Amino acid sequence: MSLDSNDRELQTILTLARDLARQAGALQRDRYETRFRIDTKSASIDLVTEVDKACEALIVGGIQTARGDDAILAEEGHGGDRDDARWRWIIDPLDGTTNFAHGFPRFCVSIGVERDGERAVGVVYDPLLDELFEAAKGRGAWLGDRRLEVSTEHDFGRALVATGFAYDVHRSEDDNLESFARVVKSARGIRRDGSAALDLCYVAAGRLDAYWELKLHPWDVAAGLLIVDEAGGRSSDFSGGAVPRSGREIVATNGKLHDQLIAQITPGPS
Ligand code: IPD
Ligand code: CA
Ligand code: CA
Repeated sequence: MSLDSNDRELQTILTLARDLARQAGALQRDRYETRFRIDTKSASIDLVTEVDKACEALIVGGIQTARGDDAILAEEGHGGDRDDARWRWIIDPLDGTTNFAHGFPRFCVSIGVERDGERAVGVVYDPLLDELFEAAKGRGAWLGDRRLEVSTEHDFGRALVATGFAYDVHRSEDDNLESFARVVKSARGIRRDGSAALDLCYVAAGRLDAYWELKLHPWDVAAGLLIVDEAGGRSSDFSGGAVPRSGREIVATNGKLHDQLIAQITPGPS
């Protein structure tokens, strides 16, 4: 395949991801603060609504119609994952389900696409603010026509930092609370806003200086990590090594604060 046709295919996929994210986002906007069915998954605090499922069916259906050969990993189990496909879509149809269920206005659609196992496209859409964050490998990260750049902050004491907690937090001792306490005591501010995909986009946009979380899943981070990367940020696991594709350990920062955040969240010798 020539470079040009590769480029064209990337553009086609970006356009499709954008369209599907906007359609699913419109559904979220319509159903926000209405009555809908809510079930639980891995724990009593791990929710899934009928809107999560409807958004996923819409996105997966759109991909299958347009691109029948692509692999699809989607949080709520629609689609079909395979390891022999060139293109693989990784979908969180509604990131921020707890917020959505409570009428707390912070949630989004996240669609990441890998080409030959490498992150190639990321789209995150916040339907209430009508903000669409996107990146394609090598083409920068964008919010509409604004090119995104991470912040230049290098002093941890002036940093705004975000994190989150996994759904096993009630029963697991590996609960992020010690790290949380250390960062509360050392950064300017900390946020737990409930959408990992938006947290990553906010690092890319310079709204946050740094973010970390553990026990995430591929769909939480597939789009956001490319957006951070294309905005000039740095991402890694908790030791500064490559980010695991599973999402189990994520540190994403403006680069300048990376080692300082890692030092805060990894216990030193006692
Ligand atoms: C969750 C959100 C939250 C993060 C959780 C995720 P969901 O995703 O991204 O911010 O702290 O770890 O599971 O369940 O709303 O798609
Ligand atoms: Ca999620
Ligand atoms: Ca979700």
